[in-house]
Amino acid sequence: MPTLTTIRMLSEHVGQTVTLQGWLHGSRSSGKLMFLQLRDGTGLCQALVEAATPDVFAAARELTQESSLRATGLIRGDARAPGGFEMVVTHIELIQKAADYPITRKAHGTDFLMNHRHLWLRSRRQTAILRVRHTLIRAIRDFFDSRGFTLIDTPLLIQSAAEGAGTLFPVDFFGEKAYLAQTGQLYLESACMALGKVYCFGPTFRAEKSKTRRHLTEFWMVEPEVAFAVLDDLAALAEDFLCSIVDTVLARHTEEFAVVERDTTPLRNIAKPFPRLTYSAAVDILRSAETAAQLDKELTGERRRLQEKIAALDGLIAEKTKAAKAWQQDKLDGQLLTLREEIRELELDVAAAPAHIEQARTFPWGKDLGGSDETILSRRFDKPLIVTGYPREVKAFYMKADPTDPRVVLNMDVLAPEGYGEIIGGSQREDDLSVLEARMRAEGMNPADYGWYLDLRRYGSVPHGGFGLGVERTLAWICGLPHVRETIPFPRLMGRMVP
Ligand code: 4AD
Ligand code: MG
Repeated sequence: MPTLTTIRMLSEHVGQTVTLQGWLHGSRSSGKLMFLQLRDGTGLCQALVEAATPDVFAAARELTQESSLRATGLIRGDARAPGGFEMVVTHIELIQKAADYPITRKAHGTDFLMNHRHLWLRSRRQTAILRVRHTLIRAIRDFFDSRGFTLIDTPLLIQSAAEGAGTLFPVDFFGEKAYLAQTGQLYLESACMALGKVYCFGPTFRAEKSKTRRHLTEFWMVEPEVAFAVLDDLAALAEDFLCSIVDTVLARHTEEFAVVERDTTPLRNIAKPFPRLTYSAAVDILRSAETAAQLDKELTGERRRLQEKIAALDGLIAEKTKAAKAWQQDKLDGQLLTLREEIRELELDVAAAPAHIEQARTFPWGKDLGGSDETILSRRFDKPLIVTGYPREVKAFYMKADPTDPRVVLNMDVLAPEGYGEIIGGSQREDDLSVLEARMRAEGMNPADYGWYLDLRRYGSVPHGGFGLGVERTLAWICGLPHVRETIPFPRLMGRMVP
């Protein structure tokens, strides 16, 4: 019996006959030769079938896209083959012949692909993104584990709001009203008084009615919380943390970044210290004449890019009318669809730009930074930007007021560069019982509902704080993806629960 192995291990089997088990990703034929593309979850391998072996050749011709099979053959090095090795097939065992696979070389819109997410996961691009996600999550855990943090699993069923009542998902808890967790923070604050440095890492739910490229209704958040930490400590922790996870992912995923066509140069520039701005300074930047001029210039550039894309579309349409072969037509259809989607997105950007420019120019002090404001700011810097001291009214009740300016809080948002916007939100927490109670009342909350949380301010209260980082937004930035929907295996978005 030939050795059973995986595509990833092929370098150790050159010159040997081995068996691979997997699926047929694609195939092409040149009369006397068939080139099968096998995938097995560890990689892609080209498998050659020669007409000189008529039984194998006949079996290969029977294979449909995504049929499952075992292929046995001789492994040899070939610089031209994807992965660097190919198999000369001597035996094919069909496991199951796939029915007409819905995702073909042909054109597929995003909606179609999202409806077939359970199958779309098999594509090269999606597996690349999920591998980077895996490494990112492990790098996050490693960072905190190696710095003396203890993992605390916080509950997902909760009794009261922590991040604003407007985004709570209600659940029936044996006849009582409960909600899905918006954050583990309040529980972490308790745990950090027991263990010093703690973190939680789990699914998080927000019933926000926003359909943006940055919002999921279910996402994964990691939240560290540190006793005795003040805002500067948290900013320093966030810097080390982001540098560490970006380095780890960069070091391991050259191949995956090539598949998703991510230019990693901007990521390689990420180093301490990150630029810092107060909210007030950020507002000044938004309102400045320089920003307006810069945005105007960018808009002209976007318009030009749009025209270039439209010209490319016309070119492709002309090419399609001339293309003779069916597979050429299919390929062009695919390119046309992708281009049409890109044009649609770019048209939306160009149409929204004048409003965004005006919004920035007239930005009133006191308003929360919106997605477009964050984009404008984070495009001005080539490293993550730390914005501190937001107005009290737009931030959560637990944030500590700045003793030097009570209009603002001791908080920070970290905005990812290249226009990605907020990936981290955090703050020093209010540690004074009466100030916190007053703040809760001012926000229409009942302190009695938070008795256990207020106990932390009764029994040995200390300065403390922490932050939360969203995995999907971070992954979208790292992989250079325009939308968070591809960063989680089965996304939950407003209007999408299936599959
Ligand atoms: O700024 P947020 O709401 O902060 C908190 O929840 C704090 N309790 C964290 C803390 O201090 N322990 O959320 C933190 C991060 C955001 O910066 C973003 O990356 C992500 O969580 N996030 C979302 N990601 C995807 N979809 C959404 N709807 C998100 N809402 C927040
Ligand atoms: Mg936030």
